[in-house]
Amino acid sequence: MSNPPTSPAFVIDQQVLQESVELLNELRQRSGCRVLYSIKALPFESVLKWLKPHVDGFSVSSLFEAQWAYEVLDKEQSIHLTTPGIRPDEMTQLSQICSHISFNSLNQRQAFCRTEHEAVSMGLRVNPKLSFLSDERFDPCRLHSKLGVDMHTIAAQDIVGLSGLHMHTVFSQCDYVPLLQTLDKLQQQLGEYFKQLQWLNLGGGYLFKDINDHQAFIQLIRILRRKYALDVYIEPGKAVVGDALSLMATVIDCFVSDGKTIAVLDTSINHNPEVFEYQRQPEILQSDALGHYQAILVGSTCLAGDVFGEYTFMRAVKIGDIITFPKVGAYTLVKANRFNGYNYPTIYSLDAGTLKCLKRYDYADYRKHWLAD
Ligand SMILES: Cc1ncc(COP(=O)(O)O)c(C=O)c1O
Repeated sequence: MSNPPTSPAFVIDQQVLQESVELLNELRQRSGCRVLYSIKALPFESVLKWLKPHVDGFSVSSLFEAQWAYEVLDKEQSIHLTTPGIRPDEMTQLSQICSHISFNSLNQRQAFCRTEHEAVSMGLRVNPKLSFLSDERFDPCRLHSKLGVDMHTIAAQDIVGLSGLHMHTVFSQCDYVPLLQTLDKLQQQLGEYFKQLQWLNLGGGYLFKDINDHQAFIQLIRILRRKYALDVYIEPGKAVVGDALSLMATVIDCFVSDGKTIAVLDTSINHNPEVFEYQRQPEILQSDALGHYQAILVGSTCLAGDVFGEYTFMRAVKIGDIITFPKVGAYTLVKANRFNGYNYPTIYSLDAGTLKCLKRYDYADYRKHWLAD
């Protein structure tokens, strides 16, 4: 690696990004699916611009994401929106920039699926009511879900005037069993309407790189395309950027508290909020289960629970040591905050061993955030 980055830093590994894109491209070629990148995972400009030639478009969740996608993409590329939160005052603008909109409820469909928006390909998000996740915080098919229309309640008249259906039901899935079972159920329930439609969006949630055999996926997409003449979209987020970013931090203090070593980092859980949100201990590159030295890695904010967890090392942790959290590309930077006034990490790209600084936040950014108009 060239000069070490300023700490803390998010480092985008171009090689890893390239590998994700190559796999998606292969899936696209072999199955005929269309690939959208779900920008909610990481909407950083350099990532979007780099991905742009490799995808059919972006999927978005709000007006701002749609505007951002519109700015980055070429006009013939797709922008697919689905959200429970379409507001009446946004619909005109959304309809001018989105190519596809999937309404989250029949109410929203009725309110916004109008002839004045006919340039948009309108769809409905369906909820197949088939759960595969034990943690209901991630489960769109949970009881009393707010995400999509219960597919058992959909009647023929609900489909009239629509061009597509959207579903998204899993998170960090490492096999295709849920997809196959869900599509089975979806076809049994709504298959009779598929020939009236032009597209089916299967959402995101699958970690394609962690799946060894893609044959079932390829077969499924081919069948859907052949049997119903549908364009089939996938919209991965984490599968594209998840393992392409690492967060690098430095130990800035080290002391013993109640008999255990505490190592304070120059980052915090606010740079990776899912650690606290889901109480998950993140992986670090420097720990070794065979070591004899333990340390509790903590963040530098005032929150007592700003703790990454206890790790084992081959040697005692000391001030100045580097700690690297790998695979934090998805939902990390986008959820990061400046709690306690700590700056965001600087963002770098790593390409063929060369580090390049892409974005450095400073006091002026912090000040602007808090200044009144
Ligand atoms: C509708 C929709 N599509 C796509 C995604 C991307 O999912 P993932 O990053 O797990 O691939 C999400 C994630 O929440 C989503 O809600």
